[in-house]
Amino acid sequence: MSLIDAARAVRENAHAPYSNFKVGAAIRTASGKVFTGCNVENVAYPEGTCAEAGAIAAMVAAGEREIAEVAVIADSPDPVSPCGGCRQKIAEFAGGAVPVTLANMDGVTLSYTVAELLPGAFDKSHMDAP
Ligand code: THU
Repeated sequence: MSLIDAARAVRENAHAPYSNFKVGAAIRTASGKVFTGCNVENVAYPEGTCAEAGAIAAMVAAGEREIAEVAVIADSPDPVSPCGGCRQKIAEFAGGAVPVTLANMDGVTLSYTVAELLPGAFDKSHMDAP
């Protein structure tokens, strides 16, 4: 199954009764395993979590740390754009050259790298002593 197909499948499980905007995300790790996540909203709106965060949590819980590829899909006019927080979460576990495929349900895709999605990312080097 392609990574986009994995993201499309998990999107069906999204809990999005408030936005009615279901999102699916899939991550392939350096070891070749695939982890998926969907958005899980909450009646206390800020407690909701994004699809990317769910996929990353599943990956880390399984003992994996190195993202090799990401795919995100939603039913949007243009391929869905990860929020700023999710871009930072992906960058925690992915090098700048890692490909991120964004898709909508009409089969339109856009390809980016992590560095293109989050130029000038805050990383641990910024905490080095001057
Ligand atoms: N959402 C995601 O899960 N990932 C994204 O990349 C964009 C937004 C979710 C959060 C919320 O449940 C819904 O989409 C509307 O913002």
